[in-house]
Amino acid sequence: MLSWDEFEKEPSAEPAAPVVDAAASTLSAEQAEPAPAPEHPAPVSASAESVAAQAAENEAVLRAQQAVAALDASAGIEELEGTATRVTVDDKAMINCRADLNQLVPFKYDWAWQKYLDGCANHWMPQEVNMNADIALWKNPQGLTADERLIVKRNLGFFSTADSLVANNLVLAIYRLITNPECRQYILRQAFEEAIHTHAYQYCIESLSMDEGEIFNMYHEVPSVAKKASWGLKYTRELSDPKFNTGTRENDQALLKNLIAFYCCLEGIFFYCGFTQILSMGRRNKMTGTSEQFQYILRDESMHLNFGIDMINQIKFENPGLWTDELKQTATQMILEATQLEIEYARDTMPRGVLGMNASMMEEYLQFIANRRLVQIGLPEQFAGVENPFPWMSEIMDLRKEKNFFETRVIEYQTGGALTWD
Ligand SMILES: [Fe+2]
Ligand SMILES: [Fe+2]
Repeated sequence: MLSWDEFEKEPSAEPAAPVVDAAASTLSAEQAEPAPAPEHPAPVSASAESVAAQAAENEAVLRAQQAVAALDASAGIEELEGTATRVTVDDKAMINCRADLNQLVPFKYDWAWQKYLDGCANHWMPQEVNMNADIALWKNPQGLTADERLIVKRNLGFFSTADSLVANNLVLAIYRLITNPECRQYILRQAFEEAIHTHAYQYCIESLSMDEGEIFNMYHEVPSVAKKASWGLKYTRELSDPKFNTGTRENDQALLKNLIAFYCCLEGIFFYCGFTQILSMGRRNKMTGTSEQFQYILRDESMHLNFGIDMINQIKFENPGLWTDELKQTATQMILEATQLEIEYARDTMPRGVLGMNASMMEEYLQFIANRRLVQIGLPEQFAGVENPFPWMSEIMDLRKEKNFFETRVIEYQTGGALTWD
């Protein structure tokens, strides 16, 4: 086969392909006559096979021209999303929208577009974090206590598969059912961020030379991890059926339940014991690379959570008949179940006090978080008088702050691709 350079130097021995006749593309399929075979004499050096191949190729070009000429443009556009008219803001809706979903503007949900822009501005990649100190500490038999090692392994075990569950739910269940392009744009961004998070956990696991089989299988081998994964999965199952569609009250409520399960419970509660434990380790100058990865992930996750809450509340606002007393009760129950599962996870990962915290402090923190999730979607608090025992966690979640959190820290985060270090 000739390389491009060779092609430039010496003309091909093959006969030139016929120039596409622009007029032919205006003919309808019925009018178009098959073009006569090229009449170029085959060069002496060309084999019979190459001439036959060229002729076949030309026929393929003709078939493509005929197919394009046969397209009915207006019918095609109507097929795109059910309408060929220009979209107005009033046509747009969170679910069950009939307007063209390929037109991003005019914007109706500015909050979704703004979160897409913010997410892009916070772009980062796992390889930008230096893992050398973690590798040395992990290899040193005296580097960490057995309880600290348990925390690192359990959390990498849980998160390495949890972010895949979230990504799969986004792509296979939610994306198709959310019917406005601003939210879809953010969901695409979120899906990529989930891929980055899974990449980050894999990068930590590989850097620390952990047993990959042990870590990636925890979600069905370690009960406190497996219970959380299976609790989330049951809300994906119904919606990921390709035949599932919104449009009835029951199905619209099923979508709302999925959004509450994944945004408020999985990303909004199940992540918080692990984040607190690993970030607490980083504050004590241990596993600083892993902690930094978790810090960036937490910033992304807090935006995912806020986006999910905005979506849930907007769907409730646009479809007031969905938010029945029964669904409110179900949503409350879901948040309480998730809180209980996370409390069990805290007990499993902290059999004793470690890193300045223990399971009962985490229980109070999770109850504090649960109260916030309930209020964020318009439900009353369920745990009276609980306080936040880890106020430093709120500081890390604030995307606008450039915090001096670790020894090697980001001073300019919003660089759109490159992190700057002091
Ligand atoms: Fe994530
Ligand atoms: Fe997320």
